[in-house]
Amino acid sequence: MSDVTRQTGTGRVPVDDARRRITGRLVGRERELELALAAVGSGRDLVLEGPPGTSKTTMLQAITAEWGIPLVFVEGNADLTPSRLVGHHNPARVLREDYSADTFEDGPLVAAMRSGGFLYIEEFNRAPEDTLNTLLTAMADRRIAVPRVGSIEAAPSFRVVASMNPYDNVGTTRLSTSVSDRLNRIVIGYQDEDDERGIVALRSGLSGATGERIIGDAVAVTRATRDHEDVRQGSSVRGAIDCTLIASELLTLRGVPGVPGAPGTPDQHDERYPETFFDAMLVALSGRIHLDEAAGTTPERVLRQIWEDRFILDPARAEPG
Ligand SMILES: Nc1ncnc2c1ncn2[C@@H]1O[C@H](COP(=O)(O)OP(=O)(O)OP(=O)(O)O)[C@@H](O)[C@H]1O
Ligand SMILES: [Mg+2]
Repeated sequence: MSDVTRQTGTGRVPVDDARRRITGRLVGRERELELALAAVGSGRDLVLEGPPGTSKTTMLQAITAEWGIPLVFVEGNADLTPSRLVGHHNPARVLREDYSADTFEDGPLVAAMRSGGFLYIEEFNRAPEDTLNTLLTAMADRRIAVPRVGSIEAAPSFRVVASMNPYDNVGTTRLSTSVSDRLNRIVIGYQDEDDERGIVALRSGLSGATGERIIGDAVAVTRATRDHEDVRQGSSVRGAIDCTLIASELLTLRGVPGVPGAPGTPDQHDERYPETFFDAMLVALSGRIHLDEAAGTTPERVLRQIWEDRFILDPARAEPG
């Protein structure tokens, strides 16, 4: 029996068992998950505010999978009009059959309300003001009125979960107080270094001494992009995952000994490792760092500095063990 079937009329669900099972699907994030479960478990709507790659989608996927309900994605942008969010009557069918509840094609909001799913609006603050206002009735009343369809009631597990990137300042709307006053908010930062290594190990599938070495280097240089003085926003853990996979592949292509899957032990003194790793950094990270416009530098130069810090100035840190 799922948690959904145990819901009461107010949409409250027991969160303890669920928490244990959901924790198993995630690396770290115990606190954020606990806060998110408390919010959605008590029937509340929520905004998750954090930079890219900080487990927002992963947490929601884990919660909705555990509850056995859909996670309905919508991207918040200028094209997300109220009718795109709610749905519309199919014009061709309306011409043939006239308006009816049957000619209405559910948009993501109505789909999530009917199925008791989470409506997950990514980059919420990029959606137009009138679209955000459309959500208000749905959130407050758990029902909406659709012309020529009637009143649509939300199933008890329906929630609105929004996400926002705090660094995002292009094409964003400031949330009106009427919207923000109806949402709870959890601020999420970057994972710590251990958790990032755990995530990259999980997603890359690499292990063993060489795998760990590549993962350690990829996580360290990716984290360094976030602290570099010329960078406005550095790479998320996605850059570290890709850097790991690309470095591993490139080491294999170039026949550098000790790569994962190859026989023998990792040769930590093979001088081709650092240069090969740098090429992987360029591919995985150069498009993922956003520079301060006043800095007058390039992603390639920033990455070279980060690489030198790790492999030339402080090579001991880059050695395994
Ligand atoms: N806690 C975690 N456990 C396991 N994998 C994770 C975790 N956090 C992130 N990941 C992995 O990292 C990648 C990015 O995570 P996710 O999609 O959850 O980030 P996000 O916060 O939704 O980012 P965005 O704001 O860009 O949508 C995914 O490939 C995901 O599998
Ligand atoms: Mg996401």
